[in-house]
Amino acid sequence: MSKSTARFVCQECGAAMGKWSGQCDFCGQWNTLIEEQSAQSLPKGLRGGKGSKIQFVGLTGDSVEPPRMATGLVEFDRVCGGGMVPGSAILIGGDPGIGKSTLVLQVVGRLATSSDCTYISGEESVDQVRMRARRLGLGEAPVRLAAATSVRDIITTLESGPTTGVVVIDSIQTMFVDSLDSAPGTVAQVRTSAQELIRLAKRCGFCLLLVGHVTKEGTIAGPRVLEHMVDTVLYFEGERGHQFRILRGIKNRFGPTDEIGVFEMTDRGLTEVANPSALFLTQRRGNISGAAVFAGIEGTRPLLVEIQALVAPSALATPRRAVVGWDSGRLAMIIAVLEARCGISLAGNDVYLNIAGGLRIAEPAADLAVATALLSAVTDNPAPQESVVFGEIGLSGEIRTVGQTDLRLKEAAKLGFSEAILPTRPKRKKPGGQTASMPMTHTEIEHLRDLVLLIGVPAKNPERRVAGGNA
Ligand code: TYD
Ligand code: MG
Repeated sequence: MSKSTARFVCQECGAAMGKWSGQCDFCGQWNTLIEEQSAQSLPKGLRGGKGSKIQFVGLTGDSVEPPRMATGLVEFDRVCGGGMVPGSAILIGGDPGIGKSTLVLQVVGRLATSSDCTYISGEESVDQVRMRARRLGLGEAPVRLAAATSVRDIITTLESGPTTGVVVIDSIQTMFVDSLDSAPGTVAQVRTSAQELIRLAKRCGFCLLLVGHVTKEGTIAGPRVLEHMVDTVLYFEGERGHQFRILRGIKNRFGPTDEIGVFEMTDRGLTEVANPSALFLTQRRGNISGAAVFAGIEGTRPLLVEIQALVAPSALATPRRAVVGWDSGRLAMIIAVLEARCGISLAGNDVYLNIAGGLRIAEPAADLAVATALLSAVTDNPAPQESVVFGEIGLSGEIRTVGQTDLRLKEAAKLGFSEAILPTRPKRKKPGGQTASMPMTHTEIEHLRDLVLLIGVPAKNPERRVAGGNA
């Protein structure tokens, strides 16, 4: 295809331009122009000839559950919704070096004994992949391995070869379609390559595992449409310095989203973490201020994590608010509610918030635990040691109930916590259900002021104090 047939279409407003530029001339959005084939090179619309009739059916009818290929890596299978579905496409995104290649190699290494697996690497040489496989103890696994980047070659090979169960493409950014002029990794290449490979997967009935890099902005490099094209989007994330890795389901046409799988990166690859709460709390030190244990839910699983806060006098005109693992907007809201509804001002102080272990929390239920850590940091009073905390904070300072209370309490009890600080629950007529039999003391909190009474009030002169853990 010659260059002259390419055009650049703004993904925001749909305007088409002859050449690429950083900003759309029509709507003014930045980085939205994407190369597309011009209309002349596409099939000629719907001219001539009638289509065939399509059959409509009812919603009722016999439809079988899709078969699943379980890898035996329980954490991975759960995030996929019980195993990978043949004919589906899974995108695994993550920062460079986080362990995507290691994960997919372990997945196919385990599956290879029961079904035919193909691993196509566009980033590493055959020797590098072999070396990694040996390190992972998978040197003998019957995986078909190749280093290739041409989509045309890959499609020809897979179509003519024996049927395969799983095909790994590591990574989609290195693949190219030779009919496009743009370089591998550009939006047009990534999108077209993915499109062709997904079509092949549907046609041949294999499960396609695409590895994708994440841009600095945190989205999978290439167009957002890549996420729309695949059936399942999983993000592999974690802090570089931590050994924990979280596989998070963002989208899944064959299972639940918001499910997470927890892994630990060791010198022999990724090992599964069956009891993440215990692991996230191992480094917890007793009786220090500025920390609270949050009883959260990730997907279907309860997860206990420590939330740490540090409040220190600031020398800056605009004090710092630094957050790791949580939403900074939400932190600002809680600081504002503390000031407006409880009269506790953190102005003039830098505030640091950290979710221990490198986990990222999105649940509003963490509000109360964050407020507890903040109050504990600013007053220098340790939060009750044997307590877990959860509850959502409203703008008027009221504490709202959150879902799955019983599940949270059960997990906390399992890990030896004897108290819970939680929202006031509607009174039950009969003390039936599991909560009544729970061996836990409940401190029900109706308003943020109740929490202030529980933790304490900061000294009159908070700027003179460096609160948090160094007592
Ligand atoms: P990799 O899977 O290459 O990451 P990605 O494909 O996401 O870029 O993982 C790279 C990191 O993992 C690298 O820094 C080394 C580390 N690693 C281990 O710690 N143990 C292992 O057994 C393996 C294979 C890798
Ligand atoms: Mg890699």
